[in-house]
Amino acid sequence: MPATAPKSFHVKSFGCQMNVYDGERMSELLSAEGMVAAEADQADLVVLNTCHIREKAAEKVYSDIGRLVRRESGRPMIAVAGCVAQAEGEEIPRRAPAVDIVVGPQAYHRLPAMIARGRAIDTDMPAETKFDALPRRRKQGASAFLTVQEGCDKFCTYCVVPYTRGAEVSRPWAALIDEAKALIDAGAREITLLGQNVNAWRGEDEAGRPQGLDGLIRALDRLPGLARIRYTTSHPTDMSDGLIAAHGEVAKLMPYLHLPVQSGSDRILKAMNRSHDTTGYLRLIERVRAARPDIAISGDFITGFPGETEQDFTATLQLVDAVGYAHAFSFKYSARPGTPAAVMTDQVAAEVSDERLQRLQALLTVHSHRFNRGTIGRRTEVLVERDGRRPGQRIGKSPWLQSVVIESAAAIGEIVPVEITSAGPNSVAGLPLATMAAA
Ligand code: 5AD
Ligand code: SF4
Repeated sequence: MPATAPKSFHVKSFGCQMNVYDGERMSELLSAEGMVAAEADQADLVVLNTCHIREKAAEKVYSDIGRLVRRESGRPMIAVAGCVAQAEGEEIPRRAPAVDIVVGPQAYHRLPAMIARGRAIDTDMPAETKFDALPRRRKQGASAFLTVQEGCDKFCTYCVVPYTRGAEVSRPWAALIDEAKALIDAGAREITLLGQNVNAWRGEDEAGRPQGLDGLIRALDRLPGLARIRYTTSHPTDMSDGLIAAHGEVAKLMPYLHLPVQSGSDRILKAMNRSHDTTGYLRLIERVRAARPDIAISGDFITGFPGETEQDFTATLQLVDAVGYAHAFSFKYSARPGTPAAVMTDQVAAEVSDERLQRLQALLTVHSHRFNRGTIGRRTEVLVERDGRRPGQRIGKSPWLQSVVIESAAAIGEIVPVEITSAGPNSVAGLPLATMAAA
């Protein structure tokens, strides 16, 4: 550790969007302490905000620590935050003595005190919420994340989240409305509500009435200045009638639903403790589509879960065909210490999971390409998020969360009417409608 207190910091986030959100909040906290942001190769303090979901993600932190120790500008103060910190705790400095601070996802508001002490481990899940202790939001772009719910009570047998993020906790209504307003004041046009089980969010509005996520979305819909609302990640069993209806009724709620299914085999879903079967899942998708016919459906899949046979895997491919996903994330099963699936006897050979993953990804690419092609000719709107690769190019998002490349001088945060003109599997191109009128 450097002898003097760190004056600059760098936060590197791995993994899910909630980690991105936590990383932003840590940066805001450190800035409020008077530290300045710097690149990883120069910063006095480097925070590795880690992910524990799969082995590969969890191991990344150790190679990063090694790189920081050998850094040309000298070794920085190193803090390991996030889910690896929560899961491995004291084990981390034992394995990597260069680590000064280990801080779990519920304790990072205490980072300044830990930095002052120089060496500390804090993986508490304190009763006081970190959210009350963090500074007011400073937005980072046109689109902002807002964590509304954390933790998971579902205990899927492969998953570490219930252990690393703890039980399901919903943040209070007033705090969320307040944070949303702060983000809008700072220029956010789109807010994505985040939670490990975001649709399990429960609360009471200012009149004391019980509300679910749909109620919160309807309240956000009324905030001036906000153009778009999204939410992720949802669990099929928490998809309420009200939330499904909101997709047909709330103008700012974008036509996109990330609804992980993991497998298309009922036998495997049972072994995963998913608490839904394929028929229920497909019926749910049908109801969502009845409410919002153009909705883009996205999902998560795991190949090679213990006991998965070729027949089970074929059922997954069939489910993919039945749903027609616009987008999806798929992973090879990774046995995680402490989870029930890790000690199941019928583990699938890595080559088999690999090969299935490749076949699944090839099919998912066919579907995403098909979805994107199906939007050609649509007149829609793009929220500009960043500059494109070439001068005069901008990249933004369509309502269906497609990346859209446009030739335009529009500013970041502007909403540009476009017609979608061509499509690849991962992005589409759009022509601004003003350009078309002039042509
Ligand atoms: N192995 C592989 N994938 C996993 N996921 C969660 N745990 C594991 C695991 N042990 C995937 C699931 C989940 C996504 C966030 O990560 O598909 O929805
Ligand atoms: Fe993990 Fe299942 Fe909870 Fe999702 S629902 S976080 S996969 S335990």
